[in-house]
This record gives sequence, structure tokens and C-alpha cells, in this order.
Amino acid sequence: MRVTASSVNTDWPALRAAAAEVVERAYAPYSGLRVGAAGQTADGRIVTGCNVENASYGLTLCAECGLVSALHAAGGAAQGPSQLVAVAIVAGDGAPLLPCGRCRQLLLEAGGSHLLVDTAAGPVELSALLPAAFGPTDLEARRDS
Ligand code: THU
Repeated sequence: MRVTASSVNTDWPALRAAAAEVVERAYAPYSGLRVGAAGQTADGRIVTGCNVENASYGLTLCAECGLVSALHAAGGAAQGPSQLVAVAIVAGDGAPLLPCGRCRQLLLEAGGSHLLVDTAAGPVELSALLPAAFGPTDLEARRDS
């Protein structure tokens, strides 16, 4: 993975701290893996989410799902000033956690391929974690008219 240098506008320690704060509110009694996610919008706001599990295991909500929902609930949009530009995801141990495949796709819609995602080696572009992605432009170009 290529570590990017274009993270000058993000206070990564603050973003990681926001993720570490919200992980304390995760509800993960079944897996025992608590996850917290914090995202910075292009206009400088921070939105967060935590995972919420369910006795019906398949209904589990990942932390990034909560984050994306919070983004939209706060008036966010997939593009423009309220789109995501940086995301930090941590587990209960406080260390970075790479997003699952489904959440990489969710983050793509909310932040685009240049979204910076924190890793143990530093921030990387989402395009490095989800190469050759299917996205909104494919849908626009390929749907039946
Ligand atoms: N989990 C997340 O919240 N985000 C991810 O990207 C990976 C997995 C959660 C879901 C479940 O509650 C627990 O971690 C174990 O899979």
C-alpha cells in the first residue's frame, strides 16, 4: 500500500481520538470486536459511528455504516463541501482497523476514490484499498436508457 503525503489538511491525531472516543459506545456483545469510525468532511466537520450488533447476527451494522448515516443525517452529501475527505477507524484496542469490503464501497460513495483512510502505516487513498471500483459513474454510463 502506498502511503500518501497529501494529508496536510487533516488533524489525524484528533480524528483518531474521535474514533477512539466513539468506540467506547459500540455495541458488540457477540463478536467482542468494538469498532469506532470518525470522518472529516471537506468543510471541516467530524462525524462518527460505531458498530451495533444484533442477536440476529446478519443484521450487524458496521461502524462505517453508522458514520455514513450520521454524515447524511447532518446534511451531508456524496459530493461537495460535506463529502468525506479523511476517515479513521479503530478497534477497541485503539489501533487502526481496515474497513471491510462492504464498508469500502460505502466510503467510496461518501468520499470518492481520493478519500484518505488511516492504516497502521499511515493514511492511504481509498483507491488503494478498493481498486477498479464500481461506482456511481458506472451506473450512470451503463444503465438501460
Ligand atoms: N466491523 C465494523 O464495524 N467495520 C468493519 O469495517 C469491519 C467489521 C464490525 C462488524 C462486527 O460488529 C464486528 O466488527 C466483527 O465483524
